[in-house]
Amino acid sequence: MNKITFEEVLSIQRKVNIVDVIKNYISLTPRGKNYFGVCPFHDDHNPSMSVSEEKQMYKCFVCGASGNVFNFVKEYEKIPYYAAVKKIADQIGVNFEYHEKKEFIDESEKKMYDIYDYASKYYQNNLNTNLGKEAKEYLNKRSIDEDIINTFGIGLSFDDDKLSNLLLKKYIENDLVDSGISIRSTNKVYDIFKNRIMFPLWDINGKVVGFSGRIYNNTSESKYINSKETKIFKKGSLLYNYHNAREYAIKEDNIIIVEGFMDVIRLYSIGVKNVVATMGTAITKEHVSLIKRLSNNVTLLFDGDSAGEKATNACISMMKDSNLNIKVVRLEEDLDPDDYILKKGKDKMLSHISHAKSLIDYKSDIYKSKLNFNDSNDLSKYLSLVKEDLEKMNDDTARMIEIDKISKETGISKDIIMSTIKVEKKEITKPVEIKKEIRLNKYEKASEFILFHMVKNSNVIQYYFNNLSYLPNELDIELASKIVLYYKKYKNFNLSDFISYLEDNNDLIKRVMYIDELKYSENYTLDEIDSYFNTIREYIKKEEIRKLQNKMKTETNEVVKRELAAKIIELKVKGED
Ligand code: UTP
Ligand code: MN
Repeated sequence: MNKITFEEVLSIQRKVNIVDVIKNYISLTPRGKNYFGVCPFHDDHNPSMSVSEEKQMYKCFVCGASGNVFNFVKEYEKIPYYAAVKKIADQIGVNFEYHEKKEFIDESEKKMYDIYDYASKYYQNNLNTNLGKEAKEYLNKRSIDEDIINTFGIGLSFDDDKLSNLLLKKYIENDLVDSGISIRSTNKVYDIFKNRIMFPLWDINGKVVGFSGRIYNNTSESKYINSKETKIFKKGSLLYNYHNAREYAIKEDNIIIVEGFMDVIRLYSIGVKNVVATMGTAITKEHVSLIKRLSNNVTLLFDGDSAGEKATNACISMMKDSNLNIKVVRLEEDLDPDDYILKKGKDKMLSHISHAKSLIDYKSDIYKSKLNFNDSNDLSKYLSLVKEDLEKMNDDTARMIEIDKISKETGISKDIIMSTIKVEKKEITKPVEIKKEIRLNKYEKASEFILFHMVKNSNVIQYYFNNLSYLPNELDIELASKIVLYYKKYKNFNLSDFISYLEDNNDLIKRVMYIDELKYSENYTLDEIDSYFNTIREYIKKEEIRKLQNKMKTETNEVVKRELAAKIIELKVKGED
């Protein structure tokens, strides 16, 4: 049992501001009365989620995700509702006992998380044993000290199958094979990772969902091997270090992307913490969404070699329609950020980052290296290339600065350059409220009206209870009953508190928030309410008739059939009064 009452939950909720809490997860910008950000509950690039400080609720216009501060934390962290309440309570120093119930996510997922949690502790421990000395030396030689080892949970796998054997005490072979920790061969399971330095890979909430293992004392075909993809580990929807970088990326309004996790680790060690890695895969749309939740400004800091240049360009084209402000750093001497910091020092790296090139500068440098400005054909080619990039820029001032630069380097007047470009006045991406044209029948309409007035006027709650207590749709009946129960118990009705009362019943929360936002007048007369009630009664009668007619179809006893027919007629006649 959770030793917390609804009143206590409410009092915790009143002590926090939903805007402050959500700001720890996604970047929010104020607009009007509300705040907007990129919804983390569906794949999106636009700020479709609004957070209302006044109502202490969030709502996504696109996917409909909605609720209070606890619902947000629950959904984002994929934890049970009361674990979310506890998390917030802890933050504000309120104590309550919470025992995790079995209500946790999918059982098979939970098993995998547990296996990875165990494995990661096991590997970390190995590194501190005598047999781990050589690996430690390797790490120290790479300037990876204890502090970094602990921060990034670095561990070691031995050349044996002990992990599988330990796990077999609690799990069956299939669990281990499914999770990607073990491999089956001739009816036995063996450890997959052998004799490698182990880097845990986390999901966006910081739970270990996979490993990357690096060789350190031998030569092998593959420098790193990675866990296979599972239900909980998908490379394309995971950025290394995302959960650690989140806070810093939001605060600094910038996120740095690198290719390898060693680069992340090294940058972290020099105090650059708003950094994530793609881990050798091409950037995906999902990665872009993850980034956009935190900031609109990205810095691409890929390896200095030609593969890094290719990856940079691929990333730029993947981000083309995302409206991100992209900056690019190109390192010299083919170095990756890790090597660069070790070889050239922290300050040089910091200077590179703070002088990252704007996308148009980066691109025009590439054009220039291939073109000759003394050749009028090349010059005009150059102009047409930068024209396109200038048109795409969404900051007018930055565009003017670029035009000035281009004018200076080409000798073409600013006016001429300006006259060639067409700038569409782009509105800053406003969340588009998706209004699905749903045609409601008269019964559905009546239900909405009734629920709307119940939410807005407590008198209607009592009136509904005394006179109708029924609605055509299951969800609506449940909602109306909950409203009635709530009102009878607390003697008032307030939407925000009521949502807390609904805990994590997402369907009801979505429905009541939808009802609350309907654009009807809050004024009503009892005649109006009565007429909606009558519509619902008409529905009830129609349903009864339908049921009787169905019964008649299957009824074989003539006497019963006649009785049914009489009942139907009676109902129909009453309807015509
Ligand atoms: P790199 O080869 O650039 O790795 O691959 P790195 O960061 O420089 O590693 P060190 O410094 O040699 O230890 C970049 C990323 O590509 C993935 C890894 O995620 C790595 O971080 N990769 C690389 C693999 O998955 N397998 C490999 O064999 C190599
Ligand atoms: Mn490297």
